[in-house]
Amino acid sequence: MGIDLPGGTSAIDVADLPDLSDLGTLGTVTGASLHPDVFAYTASIRFDWRLYRQDVTGSIAHVRMLAVAVPDVMPPDDAVAIEAGLREVYAEIDAARQRLVPIGEDIHSHVELRLREVLEARFPGRGEDMGRRLHTGRSRNDQVATDVRLWSREACTEVAHAIFALQEAILERAGAHAGSPFPGYTHVQSAQPVTWGHHLHAYAEMLRRDVTRLDAAWRATNVLPLGSAALAGTTFPIRRDLVAVTLGFDDVSANSMDAVSDRDFAIELAAAASILMAHLSRLAEDITLWATTEFGLVRLSSTWAEGSSIMPQKRNPDAAELTRGKAGRVFGHLQHLLVMQKGLPMTYGRDLQDDKEALFDTARTVRGALRALTVAVGSLEIDRDRALARAGAGHATATDLADYLVRAGIPFRTAYEVVKRLVTDRLADGRTIADMTAAELRSYHDGFGDDALAAATVTASLAARDIPGGTAPSRVAMAVERSRREVAAARAAWTARA
Ligand code: ARG
Repeated sequence: MGIDLPGGTSAIDVADLPDLSDLGTLGTVTGASLHPDVFAYTASIRFDWRLYRQDVTGSIAHVRMLAVAVPDVMPPDDAVAIEAGLREVYAEIDAARQRLVPIGEDIHSHVELRLREVLEARFPGRGEDMGRRLHTGRSRNDQVATDVRLWSREACTEVAHAIFALQEAILERAGAHAGSPFPGYTHVQSAQPVTWGHHLHAYAEMLRRDVTRLDAAWRATNVLPLGSAALAGTTFPIRRDLVAVTLGFDDVSANSMDAVSDRDFAIELAAAASILMAHLSRLAEDITLWATTEFGLVRLSSTWAEGSSIMPQKRNPDAAELTRGKAGRVFGHLQHLLVMQKGLPMTYGRDLQDDKEALFDTARTVRGALRALTVAVGSLEIDRDRALARAGAGHATATDLADYLVRAGIPFRTAYEVVKRLVTDRLADGRTIADMTAAELRSYHDGFGDDALAAATVTASLAARDIPGGTAPSRVAMAVERSRREVAAARAAWTARA
């Protein structure tokens, strides 16, 4: 019993309207006559017009319910006419989009004022009054809370799907390179060999946790505030349960004062988006480092890396750098929402109108970053020879030699000291572990057998880390397979939602 409105692209995609000074005088549903400077400051239609689908959807659910719960106030025939009028107003806005000439200070006022005109044109002499009954038992406070929740729910879903696409691109690369040697770093210093697949899979894991946080934000969002009216509820015997079912909400809010002033769901979405953006920024930083001449581990595709206007040899990872940069603005939106909420006396305050631009920009920014990085990851090509060489560089298999001695019965700390001495000598004479002979190795400790050097190759080092979560190619392949199944299951679960 959901409400289907045709058209209406994602609200994430639409932009602000032109500046209010171009729009003439806007109406209010309250009949207020504010000074133009004040009005230009307080009116929100320029950005909240993009809630038009959510606002009309909420009003249709409300009027259908009124016809059932209070038919003496809202005759069913009038409800049908109002729904048709709302659909007409919706289609009109959808067709006009950025060229919309609003007549109300916010989207709620615009839809209501326009509905009254549309109904009056269709039912001369009584249409205006018909439209004036729509707001029965409702306030803009619970109305806007409902609209923003409907929007946030969609935004969570869209961002989740954009995450799945990036996860799939990552897992495709990770699966193909489950066994490709790659240098592993701590402190950006050569540490131990890993596989490129293992490194990439780390990001699939971060994104999996991001989806669980988005899921929590979605659940926090999916509670119906409508019916709370201004702050205290309404005197009409409305059926909030019916509205909840129509709009696909899991529950109705339990406290009207909380419901009109609660923006936790917005903060949760911004928090989930911030952590996500931190992960994307790390991925962007890794790609940027890998592609430097100094690291030289990957080649960037011209599908996303741009040239320089002066240096012909350059291919710059602009989309990755922008992701690093734009992380700051998403974190800023989270901060903004927290501060907006923290000093708000109960209940609604106009402060809350300022949740929207932060939310809209958060969703647009993270979805944009996800999409750009999906292209980037899908086109990354590893330089295998260079990656193999760097994987073993810097005595990266020294730990494997120490572990060898431990298997021969030597306490780890003792083995560590033996190998440290050995590595210090190699740093002094400029040779590597691979340059040593078995006899030379034994001069450091007689626990080193003839097979010790074989344990210190990159291939052996990788294969030896054969534990859950380890970088052994077989383990990486298993982890990637498991992640693929998890992504498929999560995608199916999110697709099945409202
Ligand atoms: N544009 C307002 C907002 O976004 C709508 C609610 C106004 N309510 C009020 N009581 N002034 O919050």
